[in-house]
Amino acid sequence: MALYSEKVMDHFRNPRNVGIIEDANAVGEVGNAKCGDIMKMYMKIEDDIVKDVKFETFGCGSAIASSSMATELIKGQPLSEVAKLTNEAVAEALDGLPGYKMHCSVLAEEAIKSALDNYYENQA
Ligand code: FES
Repeated sequence: MALYSEKVMDHFRNPRNVGIIEDANAVGEVGNAKCGDIMKMYMKIEDDIVKDVKFETFGCGSAIASSSMATELIKGQPLSEVAKLTNEAVAEALDGLPGYKMHCSVLAEEAIKSALDNYYENQA
C-alpha cells in the first residue's frame, strides 16, 4: 500500500490557494517546534464568511497537502463552521495521513484558529 493517498500527493504537487492576501483581515501563523515547519494562513472575511483564503507553508509534503485541503474546506464557509474544523477532518478529506504525520494536519487546524483569533482581535 502506498504511504500517501492519491489526494495527499495531488494536493502536495498542486497545492490550492498558495500565496498571500494583501488585504487579509485575518492572518495566523503557527509552527511546530520539533520539525521547524511553519504555516501562515491569510483570510479575507466578509459578513462572517471566508470569501478568500491563501496560505504559505514552509514545511513537509503532508503539511503542504494539509494546508491546501484546509483552505478548500473553509473557502466560502461561515465562521461558525470554520471554527469547528479539526485536523482529523482535514486528514480524512485527504483520505488519511500516516500516523506519524498527523501532527502536520494539526498545523492546519492551528493556523486557521490563529487567523480566527486575529480576526476577532481586529474587530475588538
Ligand atoms: Fe513538520 Fe510535517 S514534518 S509539519
